[in-house]
Amino acid sequence: MTTITDKSTQERVIIFDTTLRDGEQSPGATMTHDEKLEIATLLDEMGVDVIEAGFPIASDGDFEAVREIARLAKTATICGLARASTTDIDRCWEAIRPAKSPRIHTFIGTSPLHREITRLTQDAMAERIHASVTHARNLCDNVQWSPMDATRTEHDYLRRVVEIAIKAGATTINIPDTVGYTAPRESAALIAMLIDQVPGAREVVFSTHCHNDLGMATANSLAAVEAGARQIECTINGLGERAGNTALEEVVMALRVRNDILPWRTNIDTRRIMQASRLVSAVSGFAVQFNKAVVGKNAFLHESGIHQDGVLKNVETFEIMKPEDIGLSANNIVMGKHSGRAALRSKLSDLGYEVADNQLADVFVRFKALADRKKEIYDEDLIALMQDATNAAQDDLVQLKHLRVVCGTDGPQTADMTLVIDGAEHRFEATGEGPVDATFNAVKALVPHSVRLQLYQVHAVTEGTDAQATVSVRLESGGRIFTGQSADPDTVVASAKAYVNALNKHLHFERAGRPGIDYKTAS
Ligand code: KIV
Ligand code: ZN
Repeated sequence: MTTITDKSTQERVIIFDTTLRDGEQSPGATMTHDEKLEIATLLDEMGVDVIEAGFPIASDGDFEAVREIARLAKTATICGLARASTTDIDRCWEAIRPAKSPRIHTFIGTSPLHREITRLTQDAMAERIHASVTHARNLCDNVQWSPMDATRTEHDYLRRVVEIAIKAGATTINIPDTVGYTAPRESAALIAMLIDQVPGAREVVFSTHCHNDLGMATANSLAAVEAGARQIECTINGLGERAGNTALEEVVMALRVRNDILPWRTNIDTRRIMQASRLVSAVSGFAVQFNKAVVGKNAFLHESGIHQDGVLKNVETFEIMKPEDIGLSANNIVMGKHSGRAALRSKLSDLGYEVADNQLADVFVRFKALADRKKEIYDEDLIALMQDATNAAQDDLVQLKHLRVVCGTDGPQTADMTLVIDGAEHRFEATGEGPVDATFNAVKALVPHSVRLQLYQVHAVTEGTDAQATVSVRLESGGRIFTGQSADPDTVVASAKAYVNALNKHLHFERAGRPGIDYKTAS
């Protein structure tokens, strides 16, 4: 007899990850080509069904990244985004067609506000939808269509355009809550209404795409699944514009932990969740808040005596999932300067980092350098070290070679710095209001630029006065944000490296000449 907990017979929910498209749209989260490939590879390996790899018309860089991901993906469907125009759709198809399983995702804003911006009447927009979906379907068998701002679109018009998209050949209908406006009951009712009332709705997959402006994205997505949606769009760490998107780790763990009342399964190997979270945090420069559900640093920490006592007696008293379920290391061996390569490799593997031999050699040098300066190396130190190794890309135009800072009660503080710029060494001594200011002034003197420092933040990775500092720097130029991160037991060195890291992203961007994309217009 089939029971509700018999997972093998349960219906599956498709996990559609849009970290590389919607996630990358969050200010400051711009990723390099290699970073996108690294994230896509991990998403593919962990069982994500559909990877939205980017918006190919946005720039040549986006196009190349989507095409490379399409070539490399082993099992995931590779999807590209396109507005409702032939040019967008053709460019998208060109990028995704090398994939084993390609998908075109085309969209248009259907709410009254968006119709006003695009100056399209209901009839004119309906025609545009019919033409764009038909065009996409003539190129590709797998077509997803989204009415952007669906949750603020009149229901009769929404029914009409969803029917048009289905008739034109869309195979997935995605219902975006673009501004994070809906609430769980309404989210469910909208999906149920569409499946019930639109002719042909039962022949396609309904999808939910929720933003988190009111903190309800995950709840809204799960409510949509209860009402019949079978695809959830989400991002790692909930990365995304404004307050972000539904977080992959939250929906996947909710479906796993509460499978008794949410009886749908996913293909995700949850033991890769922590690794994905760390990678996306390192690449995007967006630190994960300590109390974030599932992946926050405090998610499995117990401070109060009652909780600690309970957990020691029976872990289930205060924990609804096991740290190992999301790939957190159960092995708490502290590493030190006598630890060898094999121990380092095994520890990194516990933490979710599989390193190749050549990468291990580089990481081992970094590890030894750290162990010389810090007696005990904790998991958090290794994670910071791995993130630092990821941030310090080989093709960086600017690299920090040397820094000596003089600081103390009698100013001015000075920073003597050597940078390698495009392969050549340059040295400068700058002064400033404190050691960090002097350091940043030295960078500005060596690499003259007009970007504005918008944020400077320091966190201690572990406890103790020899703890590593993780520094985040956010630079702004012409409305674009570039974020850099670095870790080092010396806070000023970490600051210099973080600044240089953000500056490199800006310089890469300038060289690539990325024009940007306007999501608000239809063509
Ligand atoms: O939030 C949104 O409406 C989107 C669409 C492009 C699907 O991201
Ligand atoms: Zn979105």
